[in-house]
Amino acid sequence: MARRWTILCALLCWGLIGCKTKSAAETKIPQEEVDRKNPAESNPASIAEGKRLYGATDCALCHGKDGDGKGVLAKDINMNLHDWRKPESLLHFTDGELSYLVLKGKGRMPAYDGKETSEQVWQIINYVRSMSASGSASGSESGNASYSNN
Ligand code: HEC
Repeated sequence: MARRWTILCALLCWGLIGCKTKSAAETKIPQEEVDRKNPAESNPASIAEGKRLYGATDCALCHGKDGDGKGVLAKDINMNLHDWRKPESLLHFTDGELSYLVLKGKGRMPAYDGKETSEQVWQIINYVRSMSASGSASGSESGNASYSNN
């Protein structure tokens, strides 16, 4: 009888662990999204529109007005966001990953699916990418990009 309980417990625990692994896997970005090409050409017009949208939405609350990752909310709850003015901060992301993250959200990053169209998100990505190109690319003397979310 006791043995039966042990087995039952084992199965139960197994089930719980199984569920946990599954939800972690759900935040993984599907390969086709990673590979998705940005259909909005990165030109002054789309960057300007992305900038307008970035300003019209609440992005700067966390990511900062110029993308330094030090928006008021981020400072409050210590989000440790990337400094987008540094070219290396977004190097390991594809445009597909970035737009997926904006549309679906992740952790404290809200989902913007339904608030922005995917076309608008592509333009915002063009703007975000342009932040490191415009001017302050020299700010990398602090060394390692602080990347330790979670
Ligand atoms: C409430 C705070 C908050 C707001 C508002 C917010 N973000 Fe984020 N964002 C985050 C956090 C936190 C992450 C890191 C998520 C992770 O990797 O766990 C993130 C990640 C990202 C990323 C992935 C690249 C990176 O640096 O990690 C992009 C792109 C992004 N946000 C764009 C936007 C845009 C565009 C908006 C506005 C439409 C926006 N965010 C609004 C908190 C926010």
